[in-house]
Amino acid sequence: MQVDGQRFLADLHKLRSFGASGVGKGVVRPAYSEADSAARVWLAARMVEAGLRVETDAMGNLFGLAEGPSLLLGSHSDSQPEGGWLDGALGVIAALEVARSADVPVSVVSFQDEEGRFGVTTGSAVWSGQLDLAEADLLLDDSGIPLGQARQVVNDTGNVDPAQFTGFIEMHIEQGPVLDTTAEQIGVVSDIVGIRDMKITFQGQQNHAGTTPMHLRRDAFQAVSDFNHALTERFANVVTPATVWTIGHLSLHPNASSIVPGKAVFSMQWRDGDADRLGRMEQIILTLAQEVAQARGMEVSFGTMLGLEPVKMDARLRQALESSAETLAHGGWRVMPSGALHDATNVSQLMPVAMLFVPSIGGISHAFQEDTAEADLVLGLEVLAGAVAALHR
Ligand code: GLV
Ligand code: MN
Ligand code: MN
Repeated sequence: MQVDGQRFLADLHKLRSFGASGVGKGVVRPAYSEADSAARVWLAARMVEAGLRVETDAMGNLFGLAEGPSLLLGSHSDSQPEGGWLDGALGVIAALEVARSADVPVSVVSFQDEEGRFGVTTGSAVWSGQLDLAEADLLLDDSGIPLGQARQVVNDTGNVDPAQFTGFIEMHIEQGPVLDTTAEQIGVVSDIVGIRDMKITFQGQQNHAGTTPMHLRRDAFQAVSDFNHALTERFANVVTPATVWTIGHLSLHPNASSIVPGKAVFSMQWRDGDADRLGRMEQIILTLAQEVAQARGMEVSFGTMLGLEPVKMDARLRQALESSAETLAHGGWRVMPSGALHDATNVSQLMPVAMLFVPSIGGISHAFQEDTAEADLVLGLEVLAGAVAALHR
């Protein structure tokens, strides 16, 4: 199979033009935004040109379907609130390039809301039956908009039956420092970590910042601060160097210099390759938040717990990627776990899945500065095409 590296790069740059923003090659294209919808209209047209039949399901997952049974390739084309040009986009455009170059049936997908404006990999979670559409509709974004309202922009053409796909391969940037540090060009993924994510709310008492003595305050921000500080200590005997946790979103009410904040809502997210460890961390989080609330005289409440279990990649698909990597990047590749989440986790509930990484310069992602050398992007595309061809032999 002869893929066209220049055509692939040109389409990748074109996709970036939808929501292009910030420094470098930054992108702002959150799920269901105008830029996201416009990008999907363009992608659908490219799929049709590639001879694929386009379908969009109720969530807005966009499929370009080959006739009959086929491999499914792809990723997502929504971005973080501040994202780069490759996270997700790379896997979608690589899939498109392989589908239009292959003489075997290859289907393409761009999942919706992988970046979790409303949850965690919401589009593929609904498609794979992990999350009920009616339940998903109630999920809120950080400004309180329900998913059910945001997805009104979708032109739903019906469900796409997963039974037509023989497997799923997702190409992606690594989004971490490993390949960049070792100067290797390809990563073949062994497994994807699991994640837990929920909102925690401390409700104290809003009051005047000049007249309220320190010992009488029920300051919700101080509770968050205590919680965050104590958490590292509580985790010490449970976590490994590979475990990560993040408070990435915090909203204080009413968020004004002269008001003791009465309410703090924050996101608590943790990730690890071991489901049991994720559970023990959850217990620590719940207990600690309750202790802090009691000590500071406030109420604590917990939002819906979202999560994905750790998953292993399929041996046969992985082998095809490894052989192709060894042929095209002899000695310059490795097997590695994924610390980032991917739609492949959800799709693994339906069919065999595998993943392929290319390096991220400086290990940076979920930031405008995210980038990868074009030679590495094209090599990754070729490794993917080689694996697809081998799987049909
Ligand atoms: C997906 O973007 C993740 O947060 O890992
Ligand atoms: Mn991604
Ligand atoms: Mn991402």
